[in-house]
Amino acid sequence: MTTFLSGIQSTGRQHLGNYFGAIRQHLQLSREEGEHFYFIADYHALTTTPKPEDLRDAVRETAVTYMALGLNLEKTCLFRQSDVPEVTELTWLLSCVTGMGLLERAHSFKDKTSKGIKPNVGLFTYPILMAADILAYDSDVVPVGKDQVQHVEMAQDMAGHFNNVYGDGSPEGAVFTRPEARIPADASHAKVLGLDGEKMSKSYGNGLWIFETGKPLKKAVNRIATDSRPPEEAKDPAGILLLDFLELFCPEAEFSEWCERIRTGGDNAPGYGHLKVRLIELIEESFRDARALRDELLADPTEIDRRLALGAKKARERAAATRDRAIAACGLR
Ligand code: ADP
Ligand code: TRP
Repeated sequence: MTTFLSGIQSTGRQHLGNYFGAIRQHLQLSREEGEHFYFIADYHALTTTPKPEDLRDAVRETAVTYMALGLNLEKTCLFRQSDVPEVTELTWLLSCVTGMGLLERAHSFKDKTSKGIKPNVGLFTYPILMAADILAYDSDVVPVGKDQVQHVEMAQDMAGHFNNVYGDGSPEGAVFTRPEARIPADASHAKVLGLDGEKMSKSYGNGLWIFETGKPLKKAVNRIATDSRPPEEAKDPAGILLLDFLELFCPEAEFSEWCERIRTGGDNAPGYGHLKVRLIELIEESFRDARALRDELLADPTEIDRRLALGAKKARERAAATRDRAIAACGLR
């Protein structure tokens, strides 16, 4: 049976990049045959040293996001990373078979430091904790956005190194299972751009919260970068950021029509204001039911906490078995 696993950091509210790049796939996959593990990466969130109360809120917020959007809870183990301390033991075992050079090549680390984020050691060794998350559950498929593919490849490398050093050389004697990343088939979903045209990310403050509505939604959409060309000027739709946003929500036929009118220009071409109104309408509509369910769940969070406790129990049993296997393989017991 195929095991699917993914995690999402609890650093604030989840944005449209998280939704289209990751969460949406998780929701779809959770209806398919197989075992499903989805977790809230709160140990990873610590690399940005959030305030303790903010971290606590963000964990619940992330759980409720999945629940409100319709994760199939009958088939899925939804849990909090830090409820499974075994992954930190695995992190140590993996860090002893991981070369510094592998981590030094991490794009995500380089991107963050180049944007002026002062790195702590946790940020540098982040991919090892992520590999431990993946390997702890014998995951076969890891559905993530494009930015996380390199991290999954690193987990493959670490599993391979560990198996080479401590396995008996046969596929059956391998300690860890080799995982594969899976990104959304649609390129515009695999890397969603933010309000400023850079990759949408919680760390860059350019995100649009999935459940944004009313005035704050209008304000956020108004921040989407546009240029000063007049509506009637014929334009190449590629490179118009607003269209990238619209493409995420519009039915295909409608989207092609917008593009055509922009390409042709003249009196029939929409202005950016017009496109923004339509985008707001589509976002409001897409998440209306989920927003209502979120409010309902948050009014009495006991169901959220119950689900996380159930998930923790199952996840921990599984991770403990892998930890025991790894510890025995490397001669600690
Ligand atoms: P952030 O970069 O906002 O902190 P996370 O690192 O918590 O987001 O990412 C959670 C999931 O969402 C990952 O699978 C990641 O690949 C995906 N993701 C994040 N940002 C984007 C984006 N802009 N486009 C597509 N997927 C994204
Ligand atoms: N690093 C991932 C992100 O930022 C979150 C994450 C942590 C993860 N551990 C994981 C994703 C394991 C997939 C598998 O999105």
